[in-house]
Amino acid sequence: MSNNQAIKVENLNKAFGSGDAFVDVIHDANFTINKGELVALIAPSGAGKTTLLMMLGCVDKPNSGTIYLGDEKVFQDKWLTKETRKIRREKIGFIFQAHYLIPFLNIIDNLTLLPQANGVKDRESKQKARELLEYFDIAEKENAMPSQLSGGQNQRVAIARALMNNPEIILADEPTAALDMDRSTNVVKMLKKIAIEQDVAIVMVTHDDRMLEYCDKIMKIENKTVVFI
Ligand SMILES: Nc1ncnc2c1ncn2[C@@H]1O[C@H](COP(=O)(O)OP(=O)(O)OP(=O)(O)O)[C@@H](O)[C@H]1O
Ligand SMILES: [Mg+2]
Repeated sequence: MSNNQAIKVENLNKAFGSGDAFVDVIHDANFTINKGELVALIAPSGAGKTTLLMMLGCVDKPNSGTIYLGDEKVFQDKWLTKETRKIRREKIGFIFQAHYLIPFLNIIDNLTLLPQANGVKDRESKQKARELLEYFDIAEKENAMPSQLSGGQNQRVAIARALMNNPEIILADEPTAALDMDRSTNVVKMLKKIAIEQDVAIVMVTHDDRMLEYCDKIMKIENKTVVFI
């Protein structure tokens, strides 16, 4: 197995429901994503992009197949660890379409909430949060509320939040959907920089073709399986 591998998927299958409600979403997907790569995930609405991300993030259970995260096999027809939450906590950062900052917590508390819930010391998580806010050029906003920040600034906070646990993998579901062209480009360039500087693998769902030029690879769900174009 190559050291460079961040995600490897073999014969992955996912269907929902049964009888009339049966939906076959992903059928026999096979692919590898390397560390340091920014990969776009494209496909029409309802094709299974979010479902695929949620399986990679150990949130949604595949029906069958194998998933490796880094060199750890985490799924083979069942979860192989007792605690999928632990894998998420240690390896994965999520960025969602809407930024989902908690409106009644200030910026720094939004960043430190999850690490602290996971037992990271207050001082340590605050220091990490401040480093990230500095990195994203929003250090002066640490005591502001999300409603006092622009859409682009909130999205930067959401990216910072995804980095709080030094993840090996970032899963981003349409992180630029709510942003205009300039801000979208900025966010994608920032993700590209993170991929390179921190050797993180990033899978980013996007509906915006203009973002594809910043990505290293383009992954598409076609005929219920995953292809690279
Ligand atoms: N929990 C669920 N139960 C039943 N069907 C589901 C469930 N989650 C998703 N689906 C179905 O799986 C298919 C893929 O949905 P998914 O949300 O992954 O699509 P998507 O590509 O992310 O679409 P969009 O671009 O609109 O976000 C859809 O047909 C959807 O209705
Ligand atoms: Mg979706």
